[in-house]
Amino acid sequence: MKIAVIGTGYVGITTAASLGELGHQVIGVDIDREKISKLSKGILPIYEPGVEELIQEQLRDKTLFFTTDISEAVKESEIIFIAVGTPSLPNGQPNMTYVEDVAKELGKSIGEYKIVVNKSTVPVGTADRVKELIISEIRQRKLQVAVDVISNPEFLQEGKALQDARKPDRIVIGSDSEVAKEKMCKLYEKVDAPLFITTPRNAEMIKYASNAFLATKISYINEIAKLCDLLRVDVTDVAKGMGLDKRIGPHFLQAGVGYGGSCFPKDVAALYSMGKNAKMEMSILRQVQEVNNSQPEWLLEQMSNKLKGFHGKRVALLGLAFKPDTDDIREAPSLKLIPLLLQAGAFVIAYDPIVHSKIKDRFPDIILAKTAYQAIKNTDAILLCTEWKEFLYLDWLKVKEEMKGQHVFDARNVLPQKELESYGFLYWGVGRNSSAN
Ligand SMILES: NC(=O)c1ccc[n+]([C@@H]2O[C@H](COP(=O)([O-])OP(=O)(O)OC[C@H]3O[C@@H](n4cnc5c(N)ncnc54)[C@H](O)[C@@H]3O)[C@@H](O)[C@H]2O)c1
Repeated sequence: MKIAVIGTGYVGITTAASLGELGHQVIGVDIDREKISKLSKGILPIYEPGVEELIQEQLRDKTLFFTTDISEAVKESEIIFIAVGTPSLPNGQPNMTYVEDVAKELGKSIGEYKIVVNKSTVPVGTADRVKELIISEIRQRKLQVAVDVISNPEFLQEGKALQDARKPDRIVIGSDSEVAKEKMCKLYEKVDAPLFITTPRNAEMIKYASNAFLATKISYINEIAKLCDLLRVDVTDVAKGMGLDKRIGPHFLQAGVGYGGSCFPKDVAALYSMGKNAKMEMSILRQVQEVNNSQPEWLLEQMSNKLKGFHGKRVALLGLAFKPDTDDIREAPSLKLIPLLLQAGAFVIAYDPIVHSKIKDRFPDIILAKTAYQAIKNTDAILLCTEWKEFLYLDWLKVKEEMKGQHVFDARNVLPQKELESYGFLYWGVGRNSSAN
């Protein structure tokens, strides 16, 4: 099938590459000229394992193209995906400008029946709104053209986006049109995943309710972790014991510095504000946000107690991305920790395997190291903020020799506590029965 994907960010580019892999002919569209110029040369403007190789292959085979010209892409395609951003506004509502701009642009170009598929995470009712905008533009051109707008929310996780696109847990299709439903089933027929077909409004809600539920699990275990810290209980064992219950499951039960990234914070806020618009106070979601927002401060308070204050202390911050295997720092916990550490008088030496200039531009007062070993040299404490694989396999004897102090704060509960303690480190994990307590 011939497909257009509007917006070539984390979701759009993965969607384009994975649809190409299924044998479809894909055109990726973006308003960002630099992005399109890089993509046309086979250079991925983001870090996402496996995607660059795939787009290079498809560019070579001439099954994938990139353009800034939306009308050209519309003309060539039967199905048009919208995958532009829906970031939070200050009041928590999603900024729908990008989706609405695309809808208007589509309305200016569509001249025959098309299926428009919304992949962006959007409030309930957006499929209808997008259709209205498209039809109104078409009518201004004195044309009568049928358009189906459906919802197909995306559930991929950055860092393993391709894996998730190739074998998702489910594909949700929200459509009121039989023709569009059939086409979508055909589009995904080679994907090994259950198809869940429902209405556009239900599909839109499934996305928000799923992300908010995962965020709730994280805030819940973080609250349990705080109590574990007070009661000398190890939350990692508690989570393991809980996760063995099939009704609970082991995922998203890792206590830590809190959730971040471009989805959970904004999606929880959006769902909360959807409730408010419907005159309903979603008190669970308010608490989920409060627990998450306070987690970095709580963590630094623990650190400050153990270090007897931050003033003049050198802290190695390991990991800046909001999670491993991505360069995405949107709402990353590191962005909250750095200013708090600086305000408290600490010197911050940061290191991330992928994130470099983005963070330095934001925080000129920190030192950016080239390796983890360079970052930890002569520091009083290590704060592990992102669980990149390379941090799990550090040579801890070498680290001990290079460090001035002996405190290791593991904000992701992933380091080998016993091994570290055997080398004489004072280890502290989130809600663990730690030697540093
Ligand atoms: N990133 C994720 O892990 C993830 C996962 C699931 C769902 N989502 C949802 O998918 C959507 C996209 O997220 P993302 O992380 O890929 O965003 P992104 O910011 O990485 O990419 C959005 C892209 O859209 C482009 N764009 C904006 N306006 C445009 C226009 N008028 N025409 C063409 N291109 C335009 C931007 O230039 C940018 O390249 C969001 O609604 C998000 O909530 C994201």
